[in-house]
Amino acid sequence: MSPDHTPLIERRLWVVVGKGGVGKTTVSVLFGLWAAQQGKRVLICEVDGAGRAAWLLGVESAPLGTARVVRANLAIMSVEGSAALAEYLRLILPVRRVLDVVFSSRIYQYFVAAAPGLKELMTIGKIWYEAEKIDPETGERAWDLVIMDAPATGHSLQYLGMPKAAREVFQTGLVGRESQRLIDLLCDPARTAVHIVTTAEEMPVNESIEMYERLRNDLQLPLGYLVVNRLHTRRFDSQKLRLLREGAERLPQKERWIAEAILDRAMEEEGWSAIHEEYLERLRANLDLPRVELPFVFAEEFSAQHLGHLVTTLSRQLMALEQAGKPHGFRSARDS
Ligand SMILES: Nc1ncnc2c1ncn2[C@@H]1O[C@H](COP(=O)(O)OP(=O)(O)O)[C@@H](O)[C@H]1O
Ligand SMILES: [Mg+2]
Repeated sequence: MSPDHTPLIERRLWVVVGKGGVGKTTVSVLFGLWAAQQGKRVLICEVDGAGRAAWLLGVESAPLGTARVVRANLAIMSVEGSAALAEYLRLILPVRRVLDVVFSSRIYQYFVAAAPGLKELMTIGKIWYEAEKIDPETGERAWDLVIMDAPATGHSLQYLGMPKAAREVFQTGLVGRESQRLIDLLCDPARTAVHIVTTAEEMPVNESIEMYERLRNDLQLPLGYLVVNRLHTRRFDSQKLRLLREGAERLPQKERWIAEAILDRAMEEEGWSAIHEEYLERLRANLDLPRVELPFVFAEEFSAQHLGHLVTTLSRQLMALEQAGKPHGFRSARDS
């Protein structure tokens, strides 16, 4: 089996990217719940997030860089660059006294704040570490799947592009060698898949098309699913709407307002679904990726019940893609 025919679920690192607010964290959590149901031991890493993944799963966030077990097979972690750098320094400089001096020095703090790309590099390094980590007790990998809930589009391209930039600058030194290991994992279609999340609206669709091209052609990363989130689907065709309208008109005044309110909602849904259809068409035409569609959930706040419903919807579509023989990520421009 050539590496880019490795089924997505067999890959060890999933990166979830997309415009801010489209549902990356929600989708990362749904992916995590689904993969855990499939028996995978999953770690979700929320990068530079607000602890929303923990909130959705109903647990308190653990300190940065440490895993919190949510349930059997599922853990989450908040990852942030300067905490990852401190953790790395603790690994290579085990003397406490030296570390204290380093961490409290102004030069160190200035360096962490100002060094271009350092935070991004350390973040990817931490994700790499978790994806490759071996559990010393069992001798097996600690996680079957690490899901990186990446920051919003522009910023996540910076994260994903940093190892290449660092390797070019540092070449054969320590940083160059470490960066090469990160590139090897990120670019490997047997181990990694980058999923794009979007909503079917103007700005997110434009960003997704641009992102797809950058990921494919410039960064040459192996791609996975396109997840279209918060979709309104058409429930009433024009004939049903006409019947509803005619029915409302025949009702006595006292009852008519209910039918009219339903009609209003139905027309609104109809409008949204028409808009979404148009953008779905643009996505189909521009992104050659297996597509998953998730419905808009009408709720002020997500509850476990909503998450359960979305996981079931996701699961059904992933199974169908698999049966249709399209569960695989697509080749990067480099391979074709
Ligand atoms: N399928 C959905 N239906 C309704 N609201 C959703 C759906 N998915 C996400 N949301 C809401 O959209 C907002 C942004 O979601 P989030 O996952 O935090 O996005 P991101 O991580 O991309 O910034 C949240 O308020 C979330 O509850
Ligand atoms: Mg988020």
